[in-house]
Amino acid sequence: MIRGAAAAAALLACGMAVAADVRPSRDFLSPELRAQQDDPSRHPGWLWVEEGEALWQRGTRSCQSCHGGIESMAGVAARYPAVAADGVLLNLEGRIERCRTQQQGEPAFGYESETLLSLTAAIAQRSRGLPVSVATDGAAASFRERGRAFYETRQGQLNLACGQCHDDNAGRRLRGDVISNGLGTGYPAYRLEWNTLGSLHRRLRACSLGVRAEQLPLGSPDYLALELFLASRAQGMPIEAPGLRR
Ligand code: HEC
Ligand code: HEC
Repeated sequence: MIRGAAAAAALLACGMAVAADVRPSRDFLSPELRAQQDDPSRHPGWLWVEEGEALWQRGTRSCQSCHGGIESMAGVAARYPAVAADGVLLNLEGRIERCRTQQQGEPAFGYESETLLSLTAAIAQRSRGLPVSVATDGAAASFRERGRAFYETRQGQLNLACGQCHDDNAGRRLRGDVISNGLGTGYPAYRLEWNTLGSLHRRLRACSLGVRAEQLPLGSPDYLALELFLASRAQGMPIEAPGLRR
């Protein structure tokens, strides 16, 4: 977890404007995959949504006991990542883990655990179709700039920045994939290659590996800041979670 002041100090680069031509991730899916993503009865990610809805109600100090029905989470995922009152940047997973440890007094679920993925999917699904609306001013500004700097830095043995694929080559094919604008709006997503549901940070690790760069830990400060920057690029675009991907 990172704090505003530290992140601001880490930042010097303040680069070019956000690419003008960013399109929703679903626009890059094949027609079959897009139709399947839209149809809960044919979308394996819904198994996690249902499990998350069951978890929401489980135990004496359940999520529901404080928050009410899970429908109260409508629109919440569209506002994350967000800076908490204590200055820490939290994505949805981090926000859930906080309630788990601080409100429920239980040990954290753990990043990429089935329980955390399920709750994240169930909560994110309540924002499906709603426009991304993350705060990028105030305390969030320095995190976003840190994410932007990461996005624009050439990395790995292939010496490629994110935008060299996701801006310059969006719409082109790479190893059987159509390169999208690299937004996080579909996560957590069920990826056929994974044969399971996975988080955005798992996907980011795959892109780091793709350019032969260091794969950062799930939940690392750089991936969190990057997640905020990606969300700022996706501002106004629909949440697609749970997504369905090749
Ligand atoms: C004891 C009461 C309590 C329990 C139990 C609890 N929460 Fe919370 N939760 C809160 C409070 C209070 C906040 C607001 C904290 C803040 O804004 O600083 C919150 C905030 C949240 C938010 C962010 C909401 C927003 O609008 O930004 C999410 C998501 C969330 N909780 C999920 C969960 C989940 C999932 C569980 C069960 C694993 C859970 N909570 C259990 C009290 C609780
Ligand atoms: C060598 C080209 C390449 C580079 C560089 C690259 N990616 Fe990707 N990325 C891909 C491909 C291919 C996919 C899978 C197709 C797609 O969804 O775009 C992908 C998928 C993604 C996705 C998932 C999109 C979705 O809707 O499923 C995100 C988010 C993403 N990349 C972010 C990044 C970030 C951030 C960086 C820089 C750290 C990066 N990528 C660097 C090629 C690349």
